[in-house]
Amino acid sequence: MSFDRIAPHYRWLERLFAGDRLQRARTACFPAEAPRRILSLGEGHGRTLAALRVAYPAAAITCVDASAKMLARARAQAGEGNVEFIHADALTWPVPAGDFDLLVTHFFLDCFPPEQLAVLIPRFATAAAPGAQWLIADFCEPPSGLARWRARIILKILYTCFRIATRLPARRLTPPDPYLVASGFRLKERHHFEWALLHSDRWGRVVE
Ligand SMILES: C[S@@+](CC[C@H](N)C(=O)[O-])C[C@H]1O[C@@H](n2cnc3c(N)ncnc32)[C@H](O)[C@@H]1O
Repeated sequence: MSFDRIAPHYRWLERLFAGDRLQRARTACFPAEAPRRILSLGEGHGRTLAALRVAYPAAAITCVDASAKMLARARAQAGEGNVEFIHADALTWPVPAGDFDLLVTHFFLDCFPPEQLAVLIPRFATAAAPGAQWLIADFCEPPSGLARWRARIILKILYTCFRIATRLPARRLTPPDPYLVASGFRLKERHHFEWALLHSDRWGRVVE
């Protein structure tokens, strides 16, 4: 799996097909209280990073991505500052325990099939400090009606294209909610966009 091939095209494709809608979902649940340490997994081309740096200028940000070309774009978009760029596979990267008070996985968890989400989410839950929050902007499938059929068609096209272009391991969308709950997180805030094709979530780690 590699996003290197599509890295040069990701931004203009997003602009063409989604305008500013994905970015609205990426930023909709930014917490009011500034985090100190942020971990962005599958950061990609750096649009989330740029918004995080504007919203939380004092935060230390770690971006992990398996695509060197995506990371290069993120670096060019956001500059260096207090940002660490790590070229690694999130499935095997050694997770620093309890270090981060904000985790961000925008349009990233949708890359994985259920058996990988079951490994990935508990692994990264261990990186969350007590009281940490986890932001997720992603696609979703509405429960019924025309919106459900619309989403199914769009998701089928997206997964087919991404599987060809990147050898994405996932064949379809798996909701990450049960894995987050099992890892000690609870949903605090959720917004839907675009006929509920997109959602933006803020999850909070349960403090025992
Ligand atoms: C669909 S793109 C999303 C990019 C960006 N977060 C956004 O909001 O558009 C998925 C990103 O996750 C990265 N990625 C996919 N699988 C990964 C893995 N196992 N480890 C690290 N990064 C991964 C890809 O290289 C790509 O940059």
